Amino acid sequence: MDNLAIRLRDVSVRYRVPMEPVSTLKEHAIRLLQGRRTNYREFWALHDVDFEIVRGEALGIIGRNGAGKSTLLKVISRILRPTAGQVWVRGTVAPLIELGAGFHPELTGRENIFLNGAMLGFSQADMEARFKGVVEFAELLDFIDAPLRTYSSGMMARLGFAIASDVDPDILIIDEVLSVGDEAFQQKCLARMQSFRARGTTILFVSHALDAVQRLCDRAIWIDQGVVRYSGPVHDAAEAYLRSL
Ligand SMILES: Nc1ncnc2c1ncn2[C@@H]1O[C@H](COP(=O)(O)OP(=O)(O)O)[C@@H](O)[C@H]1O
Ligand SMILES: [Mg+2]
Repeated sequence: MDNLAIRLRDVSVRYRVPMEPVSTLKEHAIRLLQGRRTNYREFWALHDVDFEIVRGEALGIIGRNGAGKSTLLKVISRILRPTAGQVWVRGTVAPLIELGAGFHPELTGRENIFLNGAMLGFSQADMEARFKGVVEFAELLDFIDAPLRTYSSGMMARLGFAIASDVDPDILIIDEVLSVGDEAFQQKCLARMQSFRARGTTILFVSHALDAVQRLCDRAIWIDQGVVRYSGPVHDAAEAYLRSL
């Protein structure tokens, strides 16, 4: 128990997807007045997921699109509550889950850094001290006072990674962000994640870049249709996943 960072017990997540498209509030209201209920299709994105991560471990999570990887990371980050099962997390978590999540498009890059810092529990003074380092790492000095809506997806990914990885969390969660950056930035991110590893930070890393997962992680889990099909040495996990394709 003592050396654990994360523990999941029989975690399942059910999404409810409306059968007929209901796009507006007005449509909802009309339906309610007519006494018609919206029918939902139930969809289980995770089934009885059970695993533990030791402190300081770098765990890769691999699997096809729609396998449930992001759902799993959201549950661990407490963005999403599991429908069943238990999630136990020790330490501070810096999640970098979706591009632009936690960002405000009308605010400038500078304002978004302070906003994100506040959400992660940092004071204004803390963030002032960190600001320069974040902007330099993200290579956004010339754009930092432009509104975020003018940023490309690569620029947003750089800013997101720079903030999430500047806060020195106990647990760093990275979901696919490397795929939108260019090669040079990917290398820089990997180098920074390696240095986190060396310091003992627990890392959860989702990526389609299997070579990057294998370089960073010792162990990986392969998820398929919401079920953990394999958990073990990263090379074996990658092999099992590739064989399934
Ligand atoms: N908010 C949601 N409502 C309904 N279905 C969802 C929602 N989010 C994800 N899903 C579905 O759950 C499954 C797993 O999604 P996700 O965890 O994003 O997979 P991955 O990250 O592995 O691509 C997919 O089939 C996806 O369409
Ligand atoms: Mg995903």
